[in-house]
Amino acid sequence: MNRKVIGSILIVILLAIGYFISPFYNNEGYNTGSQGGISILEVGAQEVRDRPVKTYELTAQETEWELGDGKQVNAWTYNGTVPGEALRVTKGDFVRVHLKNELDVPVTIHWHGVILPNKMDGVPGLTQDAVEPGESFTYEFIANDPGTYWYHSHQHSADQVDRGLYGSLVIEEKEPEYEQDEFFILDEWTTGSGDQGSFNMGGMMQGHMSGDGEMDTKQLYDTFTVNGKSGDAIEPLVMKEGETARLRFVNAGYQQHQLMFPEDSIKVIANDSEEVSGEKGSAQVVEIAPGERIDVAYIKQSDEPAVIAENPNVENAGDMQIPVVSNENAVVQDDVTVPVSSAMADGTSYGSEELLFKETPDPDVTYDMDLSMGMNMGEGMSFQINGQSFPETPPIKVEEGDIVKVNIKNEGRMNHPMHLHGHRFQVASKNGTSYDNPIVKDMIHVKPGEEYVVYFEADNKGEWLFHCHDNNHADLGMITIVDYKGVYSPFEIGGENQPE
Ligand code: C2O
Ligand code: CU
Repeated sequence: MNRKVIGSILIVILLAIGYFISPFYNNEGYNTGSQGGISILEVGAQEVRDRPVKTYELTAQETEWELGDGKQVNAWTYNGTVPGEALRVTKGDFVRVHLKNELDVPVTIHWHGVILPNKMDGVPGLTQDAVEPGESFTYEFIANDPGTYWYHSHQHSADQVDRGLYGSLVIEEKEPEYEQDEFFILDEWTTGSGDQGSFNMGGMMQGHMSGDGEMDTKQLYDTFTVNGKSGDAIEPLVMKEGETARLRFVNAGYQQHQLMFPEDSIKVIANDSEEVSGEKGSAQVVEIAPGERIDVAYIKQSDEPAVIAENPNVENAGDMQIPVVSNENAVVQDDVTVPVSSAMADGTSYGSEELLFKETPDPDVTYDMDLSMGMNMGEGMSFQINGQSFPETPPIKVEEGDIVKVNIKNEGRMNHPMHLHGHRFQVASKNGTSYDNPIVKDMIHVKPGEEYVVYFEADNKGEWLFHCHDNNHADLGMITIVDYKGVYSPFEIGGENQPE
């Protein structure tokens, strides 16, 4: 071998070493470095053209927040309230939100459920850098799909959403069907000795093995809230006899909630942001998983006061009661009977009006997603996808146009509400049985022992999270990424960028 050849071999070896130790090499296989193709900042551009522009300012700030019953918490808020400012736009609007960060930690805003360009998704380290204290960021997207949404920080979400960094977003139809339209965000708080936002497996180990898939979460929280208020401080819903309102519920917490309505007073009308089809449900209890949205049409049957209340079997349920009264000045009575029923609906009870696929499609990509819990040497509890914790979890590698099939299986003992960013999927079957009428959603609540098959079309190029919306589980590893070929993220996970 002559010197030239040895020289070039050496250069190649050095380059290779340089590559593997550089931040661009990423052994998890995530396209988060420069790996060819184009940057996610270059895809999915949307223009204002002649659309109406709706502009909002949201300032992340620290707020002493009164939950009610004398319980005060040091909250982190968008614009000084929990939930943050309510955003309501109309289909077709161009939405522009200026986020200003006055906290002393970095934050973002993720638009939960909204189909938008990847760079507007608000995931730190993947679609943007977290917004540093004192800095700003502008989010822009077209409100294409009417429905119920919410927004929340995606920076250390296990901590930041827990402390109050969330709010509601409604995309209204051009001609809304219901005159009265209300939003309720459910949440849980720690007001006792525990520290809001901290996750400690101790309590679980000491007991609370309640077998409902939530033994890890239950011991964390002592106060339940509706729109940031608890118990008597919950704002009543004002309706007259015979009136019907659209009530939109979002669960921003980490526990599932079961709301009970007076007999024959509701129909479930939407799951996540999709309308449900056919008959529509007339269950009396609605179970909402963490991160999930369910809309009901509620009719006020008489002028007598009524109540929409959490299932009284749940610990701390008493905090979560929405009184329904006929006029603003009505005194909310204590003796209204809480309806009790077992006719329950959840996010999988009703099929969707509009399907993504008429027939079960032939997938181009199949991904088996096994959800489990494990121990990490020296670090304690971890939550896993296919035996790995993020960022080691294997990505879902897709090409634009692919039909993707995901078999989600929960072999553990906890509930996992799995949420996909930037897409809707069609839930085709549960535990091997196909749905006659499939369900289109962006979140599927997978309980212990359950198995769901979902399909989606890879039609929104970028790098998108698919994760458990019990954010504590996400924090401990239950996240993967839908990784499109031909694009890369110029951002890096780590340091100030913590997407969970
Ligand atoms: Cu509610 Cu990853 O989001
Ligand atoms: Cu989970």
